Amino acid sequence: MDTLSVDHLLGIKYLNREDLELIFKTAATFTEVLSRPIKKVPSLNGITVANLFFENSTRTRTSFELAEKRLSADVVNFSAGVSSVSKGETLIDTVQNILAMKVDMVVMRHPNPGAGIFLSKNVPAQIVNAGDGAHEHPTQALLDSYSLRRHWGSVEGKKIVIVGDITHSRVAISNIYALQMQGAEVMVCGPATLIPKHIGALGVKVETDLRKALNWCDAANMLRVQHERQDISYFPSKQEYVKLYGLDKTLLDSLDKKITILHPGPINRGVEITSEVADCDQSIILEQVENGVAIRMAVLYLLASKRMN
Ligand code: NCD
Repeated sequence: MDTLSVDHLLGIKYLNREDLELIFKTAATFTEVLSRPIKKVPSLNGITVANLFFENSTRTRTSFELAEKRLSADVVNFSAGVSSVSKGETLIDTVQNILAMKVDMVVMRHPNPGAGIFLSKNVPAQIVNAGDGAHEHPTQALLDSYSLRRHWGSVEGKKIVIVGDITHSRVAISNIYALQMQGAEVMVCGPATLIPKHIGALGVKVETDLRKALNWCDAANMLRVQHERQDISYFPSKQEYVKLYGLDKTLLDSLDKKITILHPGPINRGVEITSEVADCDQSIILEQVENGVAIRMAVLYLLASKRMN
């Protein structure tokens, strides 16, 4: 049987092209399962998964939970706000205590970059990174690519621009790795203050003019400005950001070709994109959410099957 080259999903950076193809192939079988009247398979029967969310989340957390339940895993949920973390417990202690209750896999979102890597070296469970600070958000990038592939067949040779707050975005970094690994060309676009100075070293194009970027691309992934991760003001005002980097229907319709619109959510309607753009037929935002469950089922299934071998 085909297997992943890794025991944990910590970031796209640690995967190879074969891993990506295996994940997409497996996700396609789960997409089929999800189209059935009874959307449940016994693959993770007897496996217990803990969802540890030390940061707010709606769709990622729900998506993981649904994926686990549809694979018949036993699921425990843990949120930092209502736990002993607020009483000063360390991350390792928190997780060791949960593992003492015989948990096999941990899905973790944490504000610190590298939190998942740290955990994978210190506890005997398989770790899935559901977002670690501004580092990586691998399942988001996988579902973004999977959504594009379901439209195009392949992303090879395609041009994708990631627009917005690149500096504070784990979605941007994971997407850059995933898309490049599949042979796509990637550009980042946003205010110069929100683009890391050395990002060109990753082999991406950099553009500060939104119209030029949109005319170059086949698809645009519109990111939210991550105010919660910004210590200072990176642009003069929200109005100015909207004027220069917001995508409305007039701009979209004036482009040379029909491009595809993605957004990882949560959307700030009227800031990075207008409602009209979010809900138009070029937007695949809800397909991304739908595909997220199949991708997470694939990741959990492939990791669990390594454990059973
Ligand atoms: C993203 C995240 O949390 O990194 N959202 C998500 O997982 N769906 C992006 C964001 O918060 O803007």
